[in-house]
Amino acid sequence: MSDFRLLVGKSAIVTGSGRGIGKAIATLFAQHGAEVVINDIDAEVAEATAQEITDAGGTATVCAGSVTDAEFPDRLVKTAAQAFGGIDIIVNNAGYTWDAVIQNMTDEQWYAMIDVHLTAPFRIIRAATPYMREVAKKEIEEGRRVHRKIINISSTSGVAGNAGQVNYSAGKMGIVGVTKTMAKEWGRFNINVNAVAYGFIETRLTQAKEKQESIEREGQQVALGIPETQRQMAAKFIPLGRGGTPEEAAGPVLFLASPLSDYVSGAVLLVTGASYV
Ligand SMILES: NC(=O)c1ccc[n+]([C@@H]2O[C@H](COP(=O)([O-])OP(=O)(O)OC[C@H]3O[C@@H](n4cnc5c(N)ncnc54)[C@H](O)[C@@H]3O)[C@@H](O)[C@H]2O)c1
Repeated sequence: MSDFRLLVGKSAIVTGSGRGIGKAIATLFAQHGAEVVINDIDAEVAEATAQEITDAGGTATVCAGSVTDAEFPDRLVKTAAQAFGGIDIIVNNAGYTWDAVIQNMTDEQWYAMIDVHLTAPFRIIRAATPYMREVAKKEIEEGRRVHRKIINISSTSGVAGNAGQVNYSAGKMGIVGVTKTMAKEWGRFNINVNAVAYGFIETRLTQAKEKQESIEREGQQVALGIPETQRQMAAKFIPLGRGGTPEEAAGPVLFLASPLSDYVSGAVLLVTGASYV
């Protein structure tokens, strides 16, 4: 029997992979043979994800912490390099929302979204330079072409804007700029850089606001979720008629992490059930 796994021998970092889309990505990567670094600000869920992967016969290690801490990106890339001998794939996925219309939005809300969705991925990619760009230089000198992959998670808010999310959409649109620039800067090192823009995926971020889930940020609780009436409205505008599952969100990321996409770079892949196309 042939081995159809797409990431055998590869090492991957997936930020925010303790739950939701990131967890589904990390799990799918591990099923395809990758060794994965599980990161989350919430150490408990990160450990649980790693345990599930290990119990299923995969390989995972945990690097808990906030991607927005200035020193964290170095720790994250070193963890991957030390545990797995290098870095082949980075998925910048960690994030949350903190919505308000502009007249009610504080500077703190604005910078929180820029920090997590834009500055953190920038710093993580920069910290990975020795393990991606420098390693590739040597491989190229030796006449070898090894592709490495960076996948940045954006949103339809980062493609089309969204009322009530001026902070989030600025971050998610900014990451598209990072994606396209890095695809040009690092293309000659065989590093593919792409973005995935999700529409409505069923996770903690999009569950009913009435469930009162929140994320802790510098000692305060930021409420997550969407009012139930708006959730139902949203589904009506999706041509496929429903929100996507985290597993459906993970599939296109696997494609962009795998050799199937070696000639795809600088792209923004819409995973939206045909909305916003
Ligand atoms: N769910 C959607 O419909 C949707 C749509 C568009 C984009 N996205 C994006 O997808 C990504 C994943 O979101 P999700 O829907 O799976 O949400 P989620 O809340 O289920 O999972 C996000 C994970 O990121 C972690 N996280 C948040 N801030 C962090 C930080 N500073 N450092 C480390 N970890 C942190 C959270 O603890 C959580 O476990 C986010 O970037 C989000 O903006 C989601």
